[in-house]
Amino acid sequence: MTTAHHGALQLKVERIEAVTPEINRYTLTASDGSWLPPFSGGSHVTVLIDTETGTRRNAYSLMSSPYDASQYQIAVRRVEDGKGGSVAMHGRVHEGDVVPVTIPANLFPLSKHARHHVFIAGGVGVTPIFAQLEELSMKNGSFEVHLAVRGPEHATLGRELRERYGDRVSVYGDEDATRLDIAAVLADRPLGTHVYVCGPARMIDDVIDQAHRQGWTDANIHFERFEDAGSTGEPFTVTLAKSGATIEVSPDQSLLEAVEESGFKLPYLCRGGACGECETEVLELDGTLDHRDDWLSERDRASNAIIMPCVSRASCTRLVINA
Ligand code: FES
Repeated sequence: MTTAHHGALQLKVERIEAVTPEINRYTLTASDGSWLPPFSGGSHVTVLIDTETGTRRNAYSLMSSPYDASQYQIAVRRVEDGKGGSVAMHGRVHEGDVVPVTIPANLFPLSKHARHHVFIAGGVGVTPIFAQLEELSMKNGSFEVHLAVRGPEHATLGRELRERYGDRVSVYGDEDATRLDIAAVLADRPLGTHVYVCGPARMIDDVIDQAHRQGWTDANIHFERFEDAGSTGEPFTVTLAKSGATIEVSPDQSLLEAVEESGFKLPYLCRGGACGECETEVLELDGTLDHRDDWLSERDRASNAIIMPCVSRASCTRLVINA
């Protein structure tokens, strides 16, 4: 794992701990011993992982303290039917290796206007909450956490949070097998309460749906969807207008990845359809776009004039983008 990647931090894998049967926690430090760039609670980094089929770029939330510049910690859930990045992290990355990691970005920050913060998470979705709670504790912020897990063997991270923050953390699905009731968690909240959700797509959709039913405004609902924003599907071809290059997008890579693999560049930040950074104009299309992002409005989608190459795909014989 020593491939050089332009602009990435070179971080040494200081420690690997198995925290559940599927999740490893990695402690990363600067390979030259320097301090790491600062970040705020809710930030993520992208790890560039060499796999047998190419380099994968997986985004992971930082779970270490934003007040500790000596290390970053991430948790990686092994996804057997994913694109191979998490499997390579579990199988090919060892303590002492150096891995390229991007500088932290935050698409899931704490609201500065919230009087009370309610966190809802499923499984490995708990990771950004670690750093967010460090930040809130430092500022004496008011919060509560509701974490759903699939059984006691998956509850280690939730128990760590309970040890730190006591009754403000509820872990559902641990020893007592109680279930998380999203509607009840969101009910009758005073003005100024903000909810943050990170976990499987279904959980995020449920929280947003329930919050809307109960009259929450979008400004008070925050969510992050890295894991499910993947971009696999039918292959298609794209032409880059500026160079005239024609590129094949294979079933297991995103349009953004295919462009990068061919030696061209597109802007990006989250690589998960959330930040808007990669927005690209569509100049020609003889089929349909498959929009998978959380960025474009319904109107933008219907126009078929814009695509988010980090997650969205096309079903067509000709697609020309302004890149
Ligand atoms: S890189 Fe963020 S939406 Fe594409």
